[in-house]
Amino acid sequence: MKYLFALLLSCSLLLSAPALADGKEPILIKFSHVVAEDTPKGRGALLFQRLVAERLGGAVKVEVYPNSTLFGDADEMAALQRGEVQMLAPSVSKFEAYTKQLQVFDLPFLFDDLAAVKRFQRRDKSRELLRSMAANNIYGLAFWNNGMKQLSATRELRAPGDAKGLAFRIQSSSVLEAQFAALGAEAKRIPFGESLKALQDGIVQGTENAWSNMTASGFDRAQPFITETNHGSLNYMLISSSSFWQSIPYATRSELEAIVEEVTAQVNRDAEELNRKGREQLLGAGNARLVTLGKEERAAWRAAMQPLWQQYEAEIGADVLRAAQTVNRR
Ligand code: SIN
Repeated sequence: MKYLFALLLSCSLLLSAPALADGKEPILIKFSHVVAEDTPKGRGALLFQRLVAERLGGAVKVEVYPNSTLFGDADEMAALQRGEVQMLAPSVSKFEAYTKQLQVFDLPFLFDDLAAVKRFQRRDKSRELLRSMAANNIYGLAFWNNGMKQLSATRELRAPGDAKGLAFRIQSSSVLEAQFAALGAEAKRIPFGESLKALQDGIVQGTENAWSNMTASGFDRAQPFITETNHGSLNYMLISSSSFWQSIPYATRSELEAIVEEVTAQVNRDAEELNRKGREQLLGAGNARLVTLGKEERAAWRAAMQPLWQQYEAEIGADVLRAAQTVNRR
């Protein structure tokens, strides 16, 4: 009986662990990111890990490193190239060293809401952007979304002129730099993991982000005013290196890509809900005051920032910009 049990156990292990069956170690995917686990990206990484364990356990193992614990904004792309990490989901704002086309996502007031961003991401022009960094060994697997961005500061920002003279923490993006320059403000490129400290130390007096990130990172500890501008969106590209991804055996890669598709749908379904909850939680804590804009006040912010569309058209590509301009339901 004991031998029969041992035989059955080893047979079931052989069936459920194809990679180990031929003596190979499972393929290891280290997935590093810079935000908290209870954010759209954080949850997406954990869901990917769970589904891979359920469906490819033994053949592929996923390790998730949140909160810049393995690599941060400054070094994660180099780590991907060196093969020290196999998956990342940087904000699309952080790719400008590799392609200018993704700057389309940074243009302020281009997309009315997250639904418009999602419509753009389904267009062929957008799907082509996943391959726009192939020459740099970067393989785009999917777009993941967070939410619309809001402005926060140490003083009330109601009119564009209120930002004048303040320094804002930004992601590493020329468009975002130009966005704050258009307001007469300064912009400082600071890795996400260092943002709260920069705000607390007064190196910058303001920033922009999605509600979910502001809440999960406790930005309200240093930002007493949040203006609900919805002026841009925070989006990610889930990436691997082409060399790593294409080295995965075809059947396993196909299964991984099916999992990516499923997780992407879930992340993008959850994003609005997580941002709604993040907003509620942050405002409920009472540290920050919400500044809501009337129609004309918001139009003034839009008018101040919209000249960037033309300024960046040549770099982004008129075709990409045009495709993005057709997705709003106005
Ligand atoms: C992230 O959500 O990955 C961080 C975005 C940022 O740097 O503001």
